[in-house]
Amino acid sequence: MKAEAGTTTFKPGVKTKTMGYDGSYLGPTIRVRRGQTVHTKVVNQLNQRTSLHWHGALVPGKADGGPFEPIAAGKTKQTTFKVDQQAATLWYHPHAMGTASQVYHGLAGFMLVDDQNSQKLNLPKKYGVDDFSVGRSADRTFSKAGQFDYQADYNADGTEGNTLLVNGTLNPYINVTTNQVRLRLLNGSNARTYHFTLNHGATIRQIATDGGFLNQPVKMNQIDLAPGQRAEVVVNTANATSKNVALRTNGQRVLQLRLHSKRTGSRTLPVKLNHLTPTKQLNQFGLKHQTISFSGMGRMVRINGRVYNPDRIDLTAKPHTNQIWNLTNNDSMMGGMDHPFHIHGAQFRILSVNGKRPSAAESGLMDVVNLKPGKKVRVLMSFHDRGIFVYHCHNLEHEENGMMGQIQVVP
Ligand code: C2O
Ligand code: CU
Repeated sequence: MKAEAGTTTFKPGVKTKTMGYDGSYLGPTIRVRRGQTVHTKVVNQLNQRTSLHWHGALVPGKADGGPFEPIAAGKTKQTTFKVDQQAATLWYHPHAMGTASQVYHGLAGFMLVDDQNSQKLNLPKKYGVDDFSVGRSADRTFSKAGQFDYQADYNADGTEGNTLLVNGTLNPYINVTTNQVRLRLLNGSNARTYHFTLNHGATIRQIATDGGFLNQPVKMNQIDLAPGQRAEVVVNTANATSKNVALRTNGQRVLQLRLHSKRTGSRTLPVKLNHLTPTKQLNQFGLKHQTISFSGMGRMVRINGRVYNPDRIDLTAKPHTNQIWNLTNNDSMMGGMDHPFHIHGAQFRILSVNGKRPSAAESGLMDVVNLKPGKKVRVLMSFHDRGIFVYHCHNLEHEENGMMGQIQVVP
């Protein structure tokens, strides 16, 4: 894939300067199967350094594309990894310094993992017909000249735009021809949290979190996604009361679903989707505990009181082992900020949220969890391959201001 600069027409007659992979904006959806070996070759045709990180992928540190794997302008980087995780909706984006501005300009794409289970389950899976990646929801601001102006929009506490783009489209819609459609939602914003809802009698069932399927579909009224987070949902329009249904967030329309009058296909979902160990049966005995506390705002953000230092290893773990991490947001409820925690090279299960068991929809595999001010989340972290991995706040401006640490996974 080539990381390149170009122009994209979002508004009629206006060319906006953007960045993309193999195109001027965003990147292709890559599909891989569990067990496959994937060779990647990234050509950096930008005039600045970049990297390509596989967000949510359980790959060795060397293939992770994090901050230690930068690709200088004009250079190429190749990696190889084996797909060794369950079916899931993952994504990719740059992760060198300058990530926030590059993501803002359009460098991001999906990587979908399939496995035997996902191929066998009776779920909507015709890509672009009843299975859509709707995720690259992102908020941007257009200047008077129709350009993205990251510098003008910049906020040290998270850059938010006033215009919502989905997959690079203003006012997007899909034609719905089946009773059920699957939406793979990704919050691709730098800092904004989304609260997705549907109207006019369409129902939402969540079927997957960041790292794979839930054990069973969970009926939801609202899906909250912090930056970097994904959720797969199935929307059922069999009993919709209008010709058009809207997926909405924060009072704005994200996506219009235009319903075909004769919709076909199944109206029910499989009852069993996965075989995850129930939260209360997860083994916590004899595991190492770590406390990770987030604090501060703007340029004064810290993890465990420290600012990111690439020359410092903050934590260690052994490959294919579990640890218990106590994640806390030490900001006060009064005016503090959300810090969406994310880790590379690992997935985790939530054991408790402020001392209480997680809800059914919070019980899946995750690589992002939002920490609201004063929140305490205890997770069972499962490490996979060896290497050095970062964990950080996925508010991209906080990340760049140093709200990041690193863990070495080594036998
Ligand atoms: Cu979405 Cu450290 O990344
Ligand atoms: Cu933060």
